[in-house]
Amino acid sequence: MNTDPTNTTFEPGAPSAGGGIPLCVPEIRGNEWRYIKECLDTNWVSSVGEYVTRFERQVADYVGARHAVAATNGTAALHIALLVAGVQPDDEVLLPALTFIAPANAVRYVGAWPVFVDVEPEYWQMDARAVADFLKNECRRQGDALVNRRTGRRVSAILPVHILGHPVDMDPLLELAREYHLAVIEDATESLGARYHGRRVGALGDVACFSFNGNKIITTGGGGMLVTDREGWARRAKYLTTQAKDDPVEYIHHEVGYNYRLTNIQAAMGVAQMENLDAYIAAKREIAARYTAAFADLPGIHPMREAPWAFSIHWLYTVRVDADAFGMDRRALHKHLAEASIQSRPLWQPLHLSPAFADQEHRPCPVAERLNREALSLPSSVGLTPAEAERVIAAVRAAHTR
Ligand SMILES: Cc1ncc(COP(=O)(O)O)c(C=O)c1O
Repeated sequence: MNTDPTNTTFEPGAPSAGGGIPLCVPEIRGNEWRYIKECLDTNWVSSVGEYVTRFERQVADYVGARHAVAATNGTAALHIALLVAGVQPDDEVLLPALTFIAPANAVRYVGAWPVFVDVEPEYWQMDARAVADFLKNECRRQGDALVNRRTGRRVSAILPVHILGHPVDMDPLLELAREYHLAVIEDATESLGARYHGRRVGALGDVACFSFNGNKIITTGGGGMLVTDREGWARRAKYLTTQAKDDPVEYIHHEVGYNYRLTNIQAAMGVAQMENLDAYIAAKREIAARYTAAFADLPGIHPMREAPWAFSIHWLYTVRVDADAFGMDRRALHKHLAEASIQSRPLWQPLHLSPAFADQEHRPCPVAERLNREALSLPSSVGLTPAEAERVIAAVRAAHTR
């Protein structure tokens, strides 16, 4: 297993490569060296090249979307997705409270405002009932627009986040989006390969984003991708990610663009990683099955469940720790595992409680708050060996006995 200590999943105080079990590190076992060497040998190292085009095609085909546009990272892809979806400054965008902060930041990049809603307790994803409640009871129609009664701002999009490798229950959200004329931007950064009723995430909404950060199921070191069926949106996304160049000879620009390009070297790595994606997903699912079987009789450990309509990639295997039944809360378990050189990680601070988003519009989010108190992600690297998984299981069991 590659245990690169510079990987962003390592936190201060996390176990280092020597003997520790990291949370989630890259797996490099395919054609990465060969393809990257080819870039170096041919001098195609920068922000255009055959591998960029190939990587875009590969991801679009895999997901089942017509178009893909590579980007510097998932956050940049989200920024551009919001722009092509027509989200305007001072609009509001609905987001789950329980997610990594990047999609909320991207909403602010376009000058819009997030409205946080709760997640549902079964699979921990954005709760369509909370979205419906907000749209029906807190908003009013004003001409073609939907307006938040309290703030007077236009509500223009829903941004579901498929967290931890599991899809959001999308049908009710898509129905609400149709009813209220809202764009749907999928944040699929944690869930490449996950399926909802057999369809891959990323091809469910109007536009979707993936991340190839070092901790994701596949990595390009850093990288992202936007996918969409809409040709005009894809063309505009390419335009905006490449400095909005209207005349590449005379350097004429009609608007402000961004340098959000992925390099050919990174794309070469992405192409190699994509070749192994299905094997990586199978490995993650095997790890999840092993943990779940081992914890079945352990009081107070409740693994995140997979919905009957879902195919989860189990990006980060996560359990809820019921302190009374287990005999230790998730903070103590986190510490106990760290003492055994096993890295684990709590879920994100719910965004309605984040100082970065203080005073933001939000609905009550008791489920997100509870999951933040109780949930802990366990080592989930593709290359986690059965012996390492058994070490994690034994350490969790030992914590219960103690
Ligand atoms: C839910 C979510 N959205 C967006 C991102 C941003 O992706 P990136 O780190 O590639 O910018 C991440 C992960 O990093 C994420 O977990």
